[in-house]
Amino acid sequence: MSQPLQVNGGEGPSGGVLIVDFGAQYCQLIARRVRELGVYSRITVPERAMFTFAAMRPKAVILSGGPRSVYEHDAPKLDGAILQQGVPVLGICYGLQWMAQNLGGQVTPAQSGAEYGRTALEVIEPQGFLQGVQKNGIVWMSHGDKVSKLPPHFQVLAKSEPCPFAVVADPSRFFYGLQFHPEVAHTQDGQLMLANFVRNIAKCTADWDPGQIVERKIQAVKDLVTPTGEVVLGLSGGVDSSVAAVIIHRAIGNRLHCVFVDNGLLRKDERMGVEALFRDEYHMDLKVVDASERFLSQLKGVVDPEQKRKIIGKIFVDVFKSEASGIKNAKFLGQGTLYPDVIESVSAHGGATSTIKSHHNVGGLPKDLDMTLVEPLRDLFKDEVRAIGRQMGLPPALIDRQPFPGPGLSVRCLGEITQEKLFALRAADAIVREETEKGGHHHRLWQYFAVYVPQKTVGVKGDARVYEDVCMLRFVSSVDAMTADWEMLPIETMRRISSRILNEVKGFARVGLDISSKPPATIEWE
Ligand code: XMP
Repeated sequence: MSQPLQVNGGEGPSGGVLIVDFGAQYCQLIARRVRELGVYSRITVPERAMFTFAAMRPKAVILSGGPRSVYEHDAPKLDGAILQQGVPVLGICYGLQWMAQNLGGQVTPAQSGAEYGRTALEVIEPQGFLQGVQKNGIVWMSHGDKVSKLPPHFQVLAKSEPCPFAVVADPSRFFYGLQFHPEVAHTQDGQLMLANFVRNIAKCTADWDPGQIVERKIQAVKDLVTPTGEVVLGLSGGVDSSVAAVIIHRAIGNRLHCVFVDNGLLRKDERMGVEALFRDEYHMDLKVVDASERFLSQLKGVVDPEQKRKIIGKIFVDVFKSEASGIKNAKFLGQGTLYPDVIESVSAHGGATSTIKSHHNVGGLPKDLDMTLVEPLRDLFKDEVRAIGRQMGLPPALIDRQPFPGPGLSVRCLGEITQEKLFALRAADAIVREETEKGGHHHRLWQYFAVYVPQKTVGVKGDARVYEDVCMLRFVSSVDAMTADWEMLPIETMRRISSRILNEVKGFARVGLDISSKPPATIEWE
C-alpha cells in the first residue's frame, strides 16, 4: 500500500534505522525488535528507499528477507546507491543475497534445496557484530538460495553446517550479512546481534522511549495545529483513539472536540465509561451522539453479515460528518491510525489479498472530509501505544482492553439484529467479561466474549419446557489477530459462566464453547 508522505504529527524523528522490505514475512518484527532497543525504525519499499533515506537520514539500513530469488528478472529492485551512503548496512537472508550480488559476489539455489528451521551456528569471530554471542548457538534459517561466492573484502564471522557463509561482513565498510533471521524468537542471541549492529556499530542513539515519544508527539501536534486550529476526533473508547485523544488534548486542550457515536451496538456500560473518563475526569469536550435508533432501524430485517457491516459503516460516516460539520472552524481530523495500517509493504504473493470481511472502525473515515489529518500514533506499533498510554496515566483497564470491533455487537449477533437479542447478548457478554477478569484469566487472552446464535433448542427451566436460542462462548489467544487459537478457562469458571448465563439471561436455553482456531475460522462470527 503506497501512502503519501504527510506531516501529521506522526512522523518519527530523524536518525534511527531504515528497513527496506523485500516482502519479508517478518519485516514488522525487525522494526519492532529495533524499537525494543530504544531506537526508532521505519519500513519502506525498495522503490522508495532512496527517497525515504533522504527524508529520514537514518544511521543504519537493514535489508529484509523476502520470498524471491535475486537472480529472477522480476525480483524486487533496490537502487545500489543505498550501499554508498556511508552508513552501516545489515542484510538479512534475501537482503544479504541482494547485497552480495550487488557487490560482486554470487547467489545460487541452496544445494540441498531449501533450508528451513533450527540450525546450529558456529561463531568464528566472537567480537564486533558477534560480541557476546554463544560460540555454538541455534539460529532460525528459512531460505531457498544462498551466497555461493563472497564479494571482495568480505570475511566469514560464523558458519553453519549447510551454510558456510551464515554471518559475513566487510567491517571496513560496515557491511554485515546474515543468512538466518535474528528477529525471530527461535534464534538464540538474535536480539544481541541486532543490538551490536544498531548500538555499537551504527552508534544509534537510544532515544525511542515512551516518555520522549509522548513529548515529541505533543510538540508535533502543537506545530501542526495552528494556534487557533480546532480538531475533531471520533472517540470509540478503544486504546488507539483514546491515546490519540489524550495526546491531542495535552497539546491543544479544548480545541479538541471528541465525538462518541452510540450505535446501539455497544457493550454494557460502555458509553457511561467513556463519559466518566473523558468528560468527567479528563474534562475533554466530548459530544455523545445517540444514533442507536437510526442504526437499529436501518439494520431491521438485514441478515447478511457484509450488508450489516456496510450499513453500519455508512451510517457512522454520515453521523460523524454531520457532527464534524457542526463544529465551527474544525479543519483538522484526529485519528488513532497505527503504523501497521500505513506501512508501505511488498505483498509476498503479489497483488492484493482478498477481502474476508470489510472492516470498519472509527479510523475508516472517507478521504473526502477535506480535513487535515492529525495522527499522532501513525508511526507506532500497538505495544508502543499501550506503553505511552501507561506513561500518560490512562487506566490499565483501558490500556489492556481487549479489542472490540467497530461494528460492535452486530458481528456477534447472528441473523437479524433486534433489541431483545442485543439485550440478552449484552448481559451474557458482561457475565463472560466479569468472570474472566475476576479470575485474572484475561491477561493471557486476546479476546473473550459471547455470541448470540439464533438457533432454537429445547430446554427445561423450572418445570417448564423452553424453546430458546444458543449462547456461544469464545475465548481466543493471539498475538496480532492474524491467527488465533481457541482457549478455555478453568472448568469451575466455565461452569459458573454457563450457569449464570442460563439463570440470569432470558433467551438462552443452551451455552456452547467455540473450539475453532483461526484459520480456518475467524475470531468474530460475522
Ligand atoms: P476476525 O473476525 O477477522 O477479526 O478474525 C480479527 C480482529 O479484528 C477485529 N475486528 C474488527 N475490528 N473493525 C474493527 O475495528 C471491524 O470491522 C472488525 N472486524 C473484526 C476482531 O475483533 C479481531 O480482534
